Amino acid sequence: MRASDRVDEGRLWQRHVDMAKLGGLPKGGVNRQALSPEDAAARRQLGAWAAARGFDVYGDPIGNLYVRRAGIQEDAPPVLTGSHMDSQPTGGKYDGMYGVLAGFEALEALEDSGIRTKRPIAVVAWVNEEGSRFQPGAMGSAVWGGDYPLDSMLAVTDRSGKRLGDALAETLAAAPCRVVSGFDRRFHAYIEAHIEQGPRLEAEGCAIGVVTGIQGSQRYTVDISGEEAHAGTTPLRVRKDALRSAISVVEALQRHMHDPEDVVRFTVGRFECRPGSPNTVPGHVHFTIDFRHPDAGVLARLGGGIERVVAASAGPCTATVARITDVAPTVFDPRIVGLVRAKAEALGLANMDMPSGAGHDAMHVAPHGPAGMIFVPCERGISHNEAEAARPGDLAAGARVLADCLTELANE
Ligand code: GLV
Ligand code: MN
Ligand code: MN
Repeated sequence: MRASDRVDEGRLWQRHVDMAKLGGLPKGGVNRQALSPEDAAARRQLGAWAAARGFDVYGDPIGNLYVRRAGIQEDAPPVLTGSHMDSQPTGGKYDGMYGVLAGFEALEALEDSGIRTKRPIAVVAWVNEEGSRFQPGAMGSAVWGGDYPLDSMLAVTDRSGKRLGDALAETLAAAPCRVVSGFDRRFHAYIEAHIEQGPRLEAEGCAIGVVTGIQGSQRYTVDISGEEAHAGTTPLRVRKDALRSAISVVEALQRHMHDPEDVVRFTVGRFECRPGSPNTVPGHVHFTIDFRHPDAGVLARLGGGIERVVAASAGPCTATVARITDVAPTVFDPRIVGLVRAKAEALGLANMDMPSGAGHDAMHVAPHGPAGMIFVPCERGISHNEAEAARPGDLAAGARVLADCLTELANE
């Protein structure tokens, strides 16, 4: 018997239905931002399911949550799997949550098939992957990996001024668990399951994406400062209108990032204008840049030019640019990539190799040991949208591949 034989499509689907109620939105999506009461409810729910199966549940100092199935050799470095339970403000039901629930389903399938593994297997719900409430995203895995310092991340504030450390304390009060000190980076292998969030698997009729790597990404904030003035009296030629400058800056950046091959990903996702009064010339604009590319050289060249382009196009206003994150492209371990492909083949599942356009916690895990990912299709590739949809059979297929990969790795 293989663990995959005991993956239960109905149970896995029902768990998604149950989790989607936590932060559920009228249009069918979820708003379960990091360390919110809804996120705490999801942590409580996962903890309750884990306790019912006798799995150990604990957290670490940044708030990553672990569900661990014991191994025969408890001190052997564990096999890790997982993803995230936080969502975008108008997010879908599967982004992140699928990787946590697929990992949990794999643990349950191992229990149900009576398979004991040499190594422990832990499902990790990495905290704050989305980075919509607290920046930067993929924070839990990055702090775990030593890429961002714990103390400065606990001091990060959301738009209401709340410190992440205080939101974490409230979350732990609402969803208590044992918290270990420090970060244990010993692991044998890591595999993260995720919906593709793009259209390729569906278009190719493939059940499984064998993920070869993740494109690199950079985030910036830009602040344009001008001078507030009366909209009725101030001649245009003497204004320092921060909004007009910001529009010119964004247009110049779009020209700078133009790529006839359409490989460059350039997004201004937040654009805030102050004071936001109809009859006051805007004095300040704050906006974000999300820039991604698979090639480290292109990231360095185009990313390195952002500050110059901003300064040259801000007109009479002053502009400051801050780079918030710079994550290099990830290449997954060929052995893990091969294992995912082999297990998909053994299960008779159509599969294809593909890179990931989206960022994932796996990019902060991969520098520390063998890592890889499994993608399953989602409808029209739509994600970061309440309409995000996936089929129960596809979710189960990915969980089957994951269960067989984890079993093999945990017996090495
Ligand atoms: C993750 O959600 C990303 O922005 O790629
Ligand atoms: Mn995700
Ligand atoms: Mn996401």
